[in-house]
Amino acid sequence: MDLMETIKGRRSIRKYKPDPVPEEAFRTLMEAVRWAPSWANTQCWELIVVKDPKIKSELATALPKTNPALSSMTEAPLVLVLCGRKGISGFYKEQATTVKGDWLMFDTGIAMQTLCLTAHSMGLGTVVVGLFDHKKAEEILGVPQNAEVMAMTPLGYPATGGIAPKRKEPSEFVFYEKYTGRQ
Ligand SMILES: Cc1cc2nc3c(=O)[nH]c(=O)nc-3n(C[C@H](O)[C@H](O)[C@H](O)COP(=O)(O)O)c2cc1C
Repeated sequence: MDLMETIKGRRSIRKYKPDPVPEEAFRTLMEAVRWAPSWANTQCWELIVVKDPKIKSELATALPKTNPALSSMTEAPLVLVLCGRKGISGFYKEQATTVKGDWLMFDTGIAMQTLCLTAHSMGLGTVVVGLFDHKKAEEILGVPQNAEVMAMTPLGYPATGGIAPKRKEPSEFVFYEKYTGRQ
């Protein structure tokens, strides 16, 4: 698949077939994540693969009932939970080097997009899930203090595709020479 086609064709998938994700496809996905860029190549991401229906159901309780991705958490054969080690990305000698502090959200975001695009190029569906009780998810999964759960995604073959929501035009977010957006 051509890169632009992959980028534009990827949709958030919220309905999944029960078919398992082949081992080989999963390995390819992880290979793609490995090559994502990160702050000083710190690679702070960590990923929990949840296959056990009981744990998937528990994780689903961390989502508000209104989250449109709720049913996909138990429907998809796998849920991938993306975590980040704290105090690594954006740090030098244990000191934050910018006013932004920890860049783990940025680096795990790139890793997630790499994962989602690669999955789509292989016919697999994903949906980034960010709206949930992170503390509850961390408790369920036994995530220690020095790491945090950032986002998760169900992974599997799409049962139905998604409709592309409207995007902004570049003219709405690109400025030249100086910031000329809304003040
Ligand atoms: C950081 C982030 C958090 C998101 N959280 C959720 C979520 O909790 N539930 C959900 O159904 N979709 C979630 N989404 C998916 C977005 O709604 C979706 O990407 C957006 O509407 C654009 O649609 P598309 O992915 O099909 O292009 C999230 C996406 C991102 C990037």
